[in-house]
Amino acid sequence: TIQACLFDLDGVLVDTAKYHYIAWKELADKLGFEFTEKDNERLKGVSRAASLNILLEIGGLTFSEDEKARLAEEKNNRYVEYISKMDSSEILPGALEFLKDCRDNGIKVALGSASKNAMTILNNTGLTPYFDAIIDGTKTSAAKPDPEVFLLGAQELGVPAENSIVFEDAEAGVEAASRAGMASVGIGSPDTLGAANIVVPSLQDMNVVRLREALSAV
Ligand code: BG6
Ligand code: MG
Repeated sequence: TIQACLFDLDGVLVDTAKYHYIAWKELADKLGFEFTEKDNERLKGVSRAASLNILLEIGGLTFSEDEKARLAEEKNNRYVEYISKMDSSEILPGALEFLKDCRDNGIKVALGSASKNAMTILNNTGLTPYFDAIIDGTKTSAAKPDPEVFLLGAQELGVPAENSIVFEDAEAGVEAASRAGMASVGIGSPDTLGAANIVVPSLQDMNVVRLREALSAV
């Protein structure tokens, strides 16, 4: 039985992936190399520091730890500028309806995000009240694919892993769910999310009845 749903934030509930991309691209421009949308796939779900390492690897550049800290801060300042203007219109289709449906069916809801900016996004979009527990990048020490973020979420909800379902748009997140002993729903394409128990293009048309059916069929 499903007792809890744990949601990734960026790319599952809100369309912030585009702001991460623009902010990293601006940094790459400044450093003088090209950073494409395809490159950006490798950064999804990955922590800020790890994302910078991947970006610099793509650019073939090396910096000291101090310089890297400054570059990460610079990217984050740009990103924060974008997300500070967000509102509820940037909640992805079907997300709010599904969060409400979970609550109506007695299923607990947690956030499991790598982002240290999660609270800003949840507050600006009005999503905060829909969560029974919020685990974000300020509360974790190990990034996805480490299962920590989802294990903490289920623990705070008081629900066992086997009764918890994770919703993820990133490969690293699907792996984190599986390492936590939780079933997962991939949001996006089966090409990248094939390891999830089921994959749907978005949360549009998702509801608790369909979720139960889909998971019992696998
Ligand atoms: C994840 C995003 O949710 O959060 C990544 O998918 C991002 O792209 C990571 O790097 C960390 O976010 P932030 O806001 O702490 O830089
Ligand atoms: Mg994501």
